Amino acid sequence: MIELNHVTKTFASKSGNVHAVNDVSLTIDTGTIFGLIGYSGAGKSTLIRMINLLEKPDRGSVMVDGEDLTKLRNVELRKKRQKIGMIFQHFNLMEALTIQQNVAFPLRKSGLTKSQITQKVNALLSLVELSDKADSYPNQLSGGQKQRVAIARALANDPTILLCDEATSALDPQTTESILALLKKLHASLGLTIVLITHQMSVIKTIAKKVAIMENGRIVEQGDVYDIFASPKAQITKKFVDSTTQMASITSLIDAGYELMQCDPNEQLIQLTYIADSAAQALISKVSRQFDVDCNIVFGTVEVIDGKPLGQLIVKVNGKSADMVEAIDTIRQANVKVEVIRS
Ligand SMILES: Nc1ncnc2c1ncn2[C@@H]1O[C@H](COP(=O)(O)OP(=O)(O)OP(=O)(O)O)[C@@H](O)[C@H]1O
Ligand SMILES: [Mg+2]
Repeated sequence: MIELNHVTKTFASKSGNVHAVNDVSLTIDTGTIFGLIGYSGAGKSTLIRMINLLEKPDRGSVMVDGEDLTKLRNVELRKKRQKIGMIFQHFNLMEALTIQQNVAFPLRKSGLTKSQITQKVNALLSLVELSDKADSYPNQLSGGQKQRVAIARALANDPTILLCDEATSALDPQTTESILALLKKLHASLGLTIVLITHQMSVIKTIAKKVAIMENGRIVEQGDVYDIFASPKAQITKKFVDSTTQMASITSLIDAGYELMQCDPNEQLIQLTYIADSAAQALISKVSRQFDVDCNIVFGTVEVIDGKPLGQLIVKVNGKSADMVEAIDTIRQANVKVEVIRS
């Protein structure tokens, strides 16, 4: 388990102090894939680097498996760090070394014999499906392959935690998918706890179980990925969620005056969010009959998040004001989230 308690990090710069991380407390359970998302400068890298104390907090404690890393002496810290692997956006491989040598690098002081190291490296390369590249150099590999090497290297000392700082940000969507699939596989087979930074909600959606949203050095919202998608609270969270559910494009259609989404005085445009098996469509036709309102589905989508479906519908409702209120109330009572977008 990783537990950050009131960690703070301030950097001095010419234009004044930058509160990169400002009083953040966070618990990450063992074996979780935990996503940390935020815009550039939010403090994500500073925060993740405090988990292995690459960045020492000015205040607060960093507990990993019950031990406060800020209290450890250098030798102990070095030992502890071996159990926390890390990968980066730009892979950070050593260009002058072969792939084999890159992966072997963290093992040079491990006490293993040469042949044990070779054996271990071969196993790691096979795990990331790069056995055939052992004697190549980094500049002979694609970005995705380089990240696989970096992952193998990060796993050399059998860590229990893997920190990923924008590990897929330099990769195209297809390669991103394959790296995320690899991380998922490693999570399942090695029981790794993975902390993953990204600025793409799609990455969170694909892989994470829990997510924290960071802004200006603080965590503004956190929870299960499904719950955050179903019911984002903070403005920035809504923005991230909308960016991957197409709701942003729908909103811009509305703003652009798209005919179908304009409302007459007796009309309302509502957005429904529901767990897809709660059968919102049947519900709509039911309330339509019951309260004598017309309901037109303008747009609909179903996402699968953390293995569970999440549906969204944009519906134009037309009727008497009191009837519309009752219809919307009835929908809400059926556990469907209703937001009035236009009225
Ligand atoms: N070593 C440093 N010295 C001074 N300021 C720093 C240092 N490291 C980070 N900062 C500042 O702290 C803030 C948070 O930086 P950080 O790198 O943690 O953000 P980030 O969320 O990882 O951003 P990005 O998405 O661009 O990687 C920024 O304003 C940054 O300029
Ligand atoms: Mg960063």
